[in-house]
Amino acid sequence: MNRPMRSETQEAGDRPRSALVLGASGLVGGHLLRRLLDDATWGLVRAVVRRPLAVEHPRLEQRVVDFDRLERHADAFAVADVFCCLGTTMKKAGSRDAFRRVDYLYPFEAARLAEAAGADRFQLVSSLGADPASGNFYLRVKGEVERVVARLAFGAFDVFRPSILLGERPEPRPAEALAAGFGRALAVVLIGPLRRYRPIPAAMVAAAMVEVAARGEGGHHVYESEAIYAIARRARRRASRRRGGPAGPPPAAA
Ligand SMILES: NC(=O)c1ccc[n+]([C@@H]2O[C@H](COP(=O)([O-])OP(=O)(O)OC[C@H]3O[C@@H](n4cnc5c(N)ncnc54)[C@H](OP(=O)(O)O)[C@@H]3O)[C@@H](O)[C@H]2O)c1
Repeated sequence: MNRPMRSETQEAGDRPRSALVLGASGLVGGHLLRRLLDDATWGLVRAVVRRPLAVEHPRLEQRVVDFDRLERHADAFAVADVFCCLGTTMKKAGSRDAFRRVDYLYPFEAARLAEAAGADRFQLVSSLGADPASGNFYLRVKGEVERVVARLAFGAFDVFRPSILLGERPEPRPAEALAAGFGRALAVVLIGPLRRYRPIPAAMVAAAMVEVAARGEGGHHVYESEAIYAIARRARRRASRRRGGPAGPPPAAA
C-alpha cells in the first residue's frame, strides 16, 4: 500500500487518465461506464467483459476475455485506474464455490494483475456489512476480498460498501426488491448511524466512484453507504454549479 501515485509523479498534469472497468455489463458497472465515457478526465476506458457490450464510443475499448484466464490479458491492466464492479448472487452462481469465484477470485486476480502492471488506483464495490469474520457467507466473502486486496501495493485502494442497490435490472430479483421495499418504507426512521441501511441508487454508487477517482486522493479508504450517498450528492451539486443550474432534489428512492 501507499506506493506513490503516478498522478503525483510522472503522470502529473492534465493528461487524460486511463481506466479499466470490470463488470461493465452490470447495474453499477453500466452506470460507471457511461460516466467515465462522459468525462474527459479519462482518455481511454477499457471494459474487460465476457460478452461484447452493445456500446460504442471512440474512447471505449472492449476486451472480451475468459475470466478464468485473466492472466492471458495482463497487458489490459496497464491503466491508471481500475474499477471492479463484479459480483453475482448465490441464486445465479448456483453454489458457494461458483459465488466465491466471481466475488473473490476474479476481483483478487484482477487486482494482482493491476498491481503488477503498475495501476495507481483500485476501486472495489463491496457491500454493507462486509466482514471477513461474518457468519454470513456473502458478507464474509466480501470482507475477505477487501482484506486481501488491501495487502497489495496500490497508491489508492477505495472500497465502496453500498446498501441494497436500486435501479432497473434485466432480470427480476425478488429478495432484493423486497429488501429495497422495506428500506424505502423505513427510510424516515433510518437516520443518523442507521442511514447507511437505506437503499441506494446504483447510479449514485457509480457517481461516487468516479468522483473519488477524479479527486485523486491516495491511501486506503472505505466508503459506507451514507458516505457514498454524500459524495454522489456533492458531485452532482458541483456539476450542476458548473452548468449554472440548480442542484435539484435528492433522488426520491434514497
Ligand atoms: N444487488 C445489491 O443490492 C447489492 C448490494 C450491495 C452490494 N452489492 C455488490 O455490488 C456489486 C455490483 O452489483 P451489481 O448489482 O451492479 O451487479 P450485477 O448487476 O449483477 O453485475 C455483475 C457484473 O459481474 C459480471 N459477472 C457476473 N458473473 C460473472 C462471471 N462468472 N464471469 C464474468 N463476469 C461475471 C456480470 O457480467 P455478465 O453481464 O456477463 O453476467 C456483470 O457485469 C457486486 O459486487 C455486488 O455484490 C450489490
